[in-house]
Amino acid sequence: MKEKLSFLDREHAELLEKIQGFSTCDGELGKNFKEAMGKFGSHLEKEEVTVIPLLKYLGSRIRPDQVSRTFKPYSARDGFRAEYQTMLGEHRQIEKILDRISKLEGTVNQKAQELVMELKHHIEVEEEVLYPAASAAGDLMTNSLKESTPEITGTSSH
Ligand SMILES: [Fe+2]
Ligand SMILES: [Fe+2]
Repeated sequence: MKEKLSFLDREHAELLEKIQGFSTCDGELGKNFKEAMGKFGSHLEKEEVTVIPLLKYLGSRIRPDQVSRTFKPYSARDGFRAEYQTMLGEHRQIEKILDRISKLEGTVNQKAQELVMELKHHIEVEEEVLYPAASAAGDLMTNSLKESTPEITGTSSH
């Protein structure tokens, strides 16, 4: 059975599609959205292998029936820790492009403006809720590993 896409996967796909739509526009609008598309595309590839599996792990504690019991994405946790600062930096780079887009006089139509707001909101939710949740999920995973294998922590079992 094919695994269900997470809400974040779906949101990424929707946003990418919208960005793509504007990237073929003429002039600065298209140029900036094309640049945003490149940055957003490579950025979400990182989130797909770090944040998304970690959130899935967090969800599995509430809905264990939906995720295999052996699912413990340690590589996602390690990848998240390694890429965290880079991913935040990419958010700042994407925001810079979005600010440029919103300052384009005359060419920014309502839809483009809405997408700029949507993308900013996406980044805000990630930084205020999803990244902290992913980080907590990584810690939980580490702790549950320690509980199941006490020798790792160096605590004696007698
Ligand atoms: Fe994202
Ligand atoms: Fe992001």
